[in-house]
Amino acid sequence: MTQPLHTENLLNRPLELPCGAIIKNRLMKSAMSDSLADGEGNPTQAQSRLYERWAEGGIGLSVVGEVQIDALFLENPGNLVLSEQSDIKELQALTSRAAINNAHIWPQLGHAGGLAYQPLSKPKGPSALCIGDFECEGMSEQDIALLPHQFAKSAAIAKQAGFTGVQIHAGHGFLLSQFLSPLFNHRTDLYGGSVENRSRIIIEVIAEVRSTVGGTFPIGIKINCSDQLEGGLTQEDALEVISLLNTTSIDLIEISGGSYFPGAKSSSDSASNGPYFIDFSVKAKGLTNIPLVVTGGFKKREQVIDALSINAADSIGLGRTLILRPDLPNEWLEGEGVTFDFPKFKSPPQGGVTAWYTMLLTAISHDNEKEFNLELLPAIQSYENRDKARITKWQAKYQM
Ligand SMILES: Cc1cc2nc3c(=O)[nH]c(=O)nc-3n(C[C@H](O)[C@H](O)[C@H](O)COP(=O)(O)O)c2cc1C
Repeated sequence: MTQPLHTENLLNRPLELPCGAIIKNRLMKSAMSDSLADGEGNPTQAQSRLYERWAEGGIGLSVVGEVQIDALFLENPGNLVLSEQSDIKELQALTSRAAINNAHIWPQLGHAGGLAYQPLSKPKGPSALCIGDFECEGMSEQDIALLPHQFAKSAAIAKQAGFTGVQIHAGHGFLLSQFLSPLFNHRTDLYGGSVENRSRIIIEVIAEVRSTVGGTFPIGIKINCSDQLEGGLTQEDALEVISLLNTTSIDLIEISGGSYFPGAKSSSDSASNGPYFIDFSVKAKGLTNIPLVVTGGFKKREQVIDALSINAADSIGLGRTLILRPDLPNEWLEGEGVTFDFPKFKSPPQGGVTAWYTMLLTAISHDNEKEFNLELLPAIQSYENRDKARITKWQAKYQM
């Protein structure tokens, strides 16, 4: 008779990916745009320290949020960019610190598409759109044809710079997620219409990245289980996407949900009790043998253990908990059930809570989070002002 696994073993078990790489435990630091690059797409000391903190804290895999494949379609000017203009030495300085204690460190390769940072970009999504305050141009067939090559080029730079894998960003309303979403994608060619057509660019990107980085380098992807937007990607569609991903060489599928589209719900702003996406993840597990990560709303060790025990996922993604407690994995892995709540804010503006957490990330990167006492509105203001101050630097670097 097989003995039930001890709960510590559930968290500590290494995870072997299809490419053969091993992640030392079942806890992943989900991508969180830290806005700590130097305003020219390269890392800073503070940013390296942030990822070192998480590696010291015992995380198995850490993903750097919003690392851009194209400086013209950034999420914000604190993003990293992986292009010919990247400073490989600075990137290596980041990856070597972020990978201590045998932690994996992957960049989340992204393109903000229709949600690109307006002061520096002319947003462009799968289709030209104008909904309320939101406006973007539509991509041409030539624009789309370039994408697999751009993702692959950035992945090759990531590998050269010492990242131990890459994650393709197809979640939360940015470009590849816009392709999946019928709300953004009104195309009538091979890239629009059925779920298969809306997924086509993602499948092409995975194939080109794989042929560039080789068979043993991990490639992950993040997708939404739903956009939580009327007319957006539904759970039924997302399950079909999972089945399609199952036919690719992807190594790790991360499931989250919500969107940063104006007026939409994002999980990182959510105050409701989690975990949020377990039911979907259980269904997705039935459709694929590729390792799955579920992210959203995990605050307690018991929630993580429960999700792993029912085989809802192979690993658990954590966002805000790892900002509030960067060393939480060590404690949970040792069996301590430290619990706390997400802070509650009264009527926060959209994106405000996420901005507050980003400013707390800055404090962690300077090892002074204990002194962090910014209220919501001043935090939002500091966040926005810091980005504004970077605009001319970004323009000069990328000759805009
Ligand atoms: C400050 C902050 C920044 C985030 N930036 C990103 C990002 O760059 N890419 C991404 O895919 N998700 C991003 N997210 C979403 C998280 O990865 C995660 O999916 C979401 O916060 C739900 O997980 P949680 O409940 O554990 O925080 C961000 C979340 C926060 C709090």
